[in-house]
Amino acid sequence: MPTTPVALVGLGSYLPPQRITNEALCERLDTTDEWITTRTGIRSRHWAGPGVATGDLAVEAGHRALKSAGLEAEPGAVDIVVLATTTPDNPCPATCPDVAARLGLGPIAAYDIAAVCSGFLYALAAASAHITAGQARRALVIGAETYSTILNPADRTTNVIFGDGAGAVVLSAASDDTEDGLVLDIDLGSDGTGRDLITIPGGGSRQRATTSAPDADDRYFTMQGKQVFTQAVNRMTESSQTVLDRLGWTADQVDWLVGHQANVRILNSVARGLGIPAERAVINLDRVGNTSAASIPLALADAAAKGSLTPGARVLLTAFGGGLTWGAAALTWPDIVPV
Ligand code: COA
Repeated sequence: MPTTPVALVGLGSYLPPQRITNEALCERLDTTDEWITTRTGIRSRHWAGPGVATGDLAVEAGHRALKSAGLEAEPGAVDIVVLATTTPDNPCPATCPDVAARLGLGPIAAYDIAAVCSGFLYALAAASAHITAGQARRALVIGAETYSTILNPADRTTNVIFGDGAGAVVLSAASDDTEDGLVLDIDLGSDGTGRDLITIPGGGSRQRATTSAPDADDRYFTMQGKQVFTQAVNRMTESSQTVLDRLGWTADQVDWLVGHQANVRILNSVARGLGIPAERAVINLDRVGNTSAASIPLALADAAAKGSLTPGARVLLTAFGGGLTWGAAALTWPDIVPV
C-alpha cells in the first residue's frame, strides 16, 4: 500500500511570562545557583501563574504554529490535533478536545498522549501515522506542560529542574516533490519495569487499592534522578543510533541534535555517544529548564529563531521520559518562520 510522506510546515511556541531564576529558588530551598548550573545547566525556567493550566499554554502554542504554517485557526485548518502532556487540565476528560475547540478547529479528532518527557515524539509519530494512513491531510501536534502544578514545593531536586511551556508543529501530507521538512523516520520504545523511577503515586486507579487515606504528597511528581540520568543517556543514544542506521546517516551528516532538554550533562553524553560534536547539540534548557513534552518543540523554536536551523539541515530529535519511554526521529528542516 503506498504511504503518504509527511512534512513539518509550521512551528510555534509559548512560555508563560513568569521567569523563575535559580536565585529565586535559593530563597526558599536549600540549594545554590552553583549546584543547579553545574549539575543541570539550568539558570532559569518559566512557571505559569495561578489559575493558568496546560490547556491555556497549548492554545497559545497551537495558534502560533497554525500562523507559522500560514493557516487561520478555523474549521478545516487541520484534520486532527494530538496533545502530549503529563499535566492535563483534569484527570478526565482529555485536554486536547478543549484545546481544539478553543482554537476553533471544528469537530475534529483530538486526543491526549501520555508519554511524559517523550510525549512529543509519541505525538509526532501518532499524527504522522494518521497522515501516512490517509486519515488526515494536516495535523496539529502540541507538547504542553505545567509541571509547576505537580512539583512538591519542598523537593529541591525537582523544583530546580522543571519548567512550564508549550510548543507545537503543524504536519502536512507532502507531495512527491517535497524536499525539505520531511519526517524521515521515527523510533519509539518503552520499558514499564522502570515505572517507579518517574511517577506521581496518587490520583490514578492504583491508589484505590489502598485502604489508607489519600496522602497529599502522593499527588506530587517524584523522580529517582541518578537512575533516570543513566537510563536517559543510554536509551536516547540507542534510539538515535537506530534512526541513523536505518537512514544510513553518519554522525557527520547530522547538522543538529535536538534532544529532550533534561540536563546539559545528559545531552553532552548523548552527543558524545553518537559521535556528534557538542556544538551541534541544541541547548535552550539554560532558559527554560526541563519542560517535558514541550521540550523538543521549544528547543526547535529557539534554534529556528536564532537562525541555527536552516532549510535542508538534517535534524535528529531524541527524548526519554517516565514510563519508561523514549524515542528518536529524523527530519530535514523546512523553510518556515516559527512564531
Ligand atoms: N541543590 C543542592 N543539592 C542537591 C539538590 C539541589 N537542588 N538536589 C539534590 N541535591 C543533593 C543530593 O541530596 C545529594 O546530596 P548527598 O550527596 O548529600 O546525598 C547530592 O546533591 C548529589 O545528588 P545526586 O542525585 O547524586 O546528584 P546528580 O549529580 O545525580 O544530579 C540530577 C541530580 C537530578 C540533576 C540528575 O540526576 C539528573 O539530572 N537526572 C535526570 C533528571 C531528569 O532529567 N529527569 C527528567 C526525565 S528525562
